[in-house]
Amino acid sequence: MKKTIFALALLGTLYGEDFQEIFKIGQKGAKTLLTTLKSEMKKQIKENGIEGAAQFCAFNAMVLTHKVNQELGENVSVKRISTKYRNPMNKPNESEAKILFMLENTNSPVLTKVERKGEEDKEIYKFYQPLRIKPVCLKCHGTAEDIPEGVRDTIHKIYPEDKATGYKLGDLRGAIVVTIERDKEKEEK
Ligand code: HEC
Repeated sequence: MKKTIFALALLGTLYGEDFQEIFKIGQKGAKTLLTTLKSEMKKQIKENGIEGAAQFCAFNAMVLTHKVNQELGENVSVKRISTKYRNPMNKPNESEAKILFMLENTNSPVLTKVERKGEEDKEIYKFYQPLRIKPVCLKCHGTAEDIPEGVRDTIHKIYPEDKATGYKLGDLRGAIVVTIERDKEKEEK
């Protein structure tokens, strides 16, 4: 908790007063995606077992993410990233990979400002929520002993180049990234 407050204070001096509002938008976006994916996964594991859930994730995580994006409105978008990605769509770009490296040693979210060529009329922020490995994650992201054989086969069939295994409890699995865009001229609420 202390750490989060420190991060907030630090960002305050960097980005002015707006940062708190932007930080809150980031938190809300990350939470919405997390709750959506978590509740679906819970339901799938209960109804179809780990193997069914793995298949479900593979085919529906992106669809669910897209839905959350629509819910969050035009200027906010969410995604997940990991340097050891399973789905190549979740590969981080260079600057995102740098932030992931920073997140290895903290559970606090990080807010950054992004410059994009051709979009100088906008202020663009990225909010990063670190994701750590919990017991349930090991079934699909753990070491060979953790992952049931059927699950391993299912995942391998869909993602022959899967990098997202070998994790241990508490490891950083990746992050949720919330991108927030604002027009420079007019203040939006
Ligand atoms: C039932 C199997 C299963 C479980 C349990 C599971 N995942 Fe995944 N995970 C997947 C699959 C399949 C993908 C790739 C499809 C997708 O989500 O885009 C994935 C992708 C991800 C990604 C996106 C980056 C990437 O590698 O493509 C993150 C982050 C992630 N999982 C974190 C977690 C965390 C944290 C937990 C535990 C709370 C967890 N997962 C539990 C199957 C699982």
